[in-house]
Amino acid sequence: MPRLSVWFVRMALLYLLAGFTVGALLLAHKGVPYAPWLWRWRQAHIELLLVGWIVQLAMGVAFWILPRFQQARGNVRAAWTAFLLLNSGVLVATLTAPLAAPTWTLSVARLLEAGAAVAFAVHAWPRVKPVA
Ligand code: HEM
Repeated sequence: MPRLSVWFVRMALLYLLAGFTVGALLLAHKGVPYAPWLWRWRQAHIELLLVGWIVQLAMGVAFWILPRFQQARGNVRAAWTAFLLLNSGVLVATLTAPLAAPTWTLSVARLLEAGAAVAFAVHAWPRVKPVA
């Protein structure tokens, strides 16, 4: 597995652990209310699991497994850019509500994530082709 895929998958697993933990705490709170402030972490739960876990895992596996040019994986710099933008976006979006940050920080997070999608598409597009 290439080094970038290792980073994608490791980060995805960390977000899975964090997202499940927050989800379990929220679920427990629904049964026996013990910390009303926990609801500020609901958006973080969704962000960690939908983007941090699922999208990140898909990118990591795609970088590893899409058809290669001889041995090369094409524009690797664009894929690293996607990794950095995605993780910055997930962290900003996750912390926006718990830190009571202004709502525009969520827009910044979405822009970072959109940038990650564009950078990953730039990387992956030439690799999406039938294997000869
Ligand atoms: C990959 C796995 C998961 C994903 C993608 C996911 C995603 C979501 C989403 C999208 C919501 C918002 C639902 C809505 O607004 O209707 C949500 C809410 C919630 N999730 Fe998860 N979740 C996952 C796993 C879990 C787990 C393992 C737990 C508990 C152990 C959990 C506990 C909760 C709770 C308590 C809520 C709040 C429900 C409410 O608003 O009343 N989730 N989750």
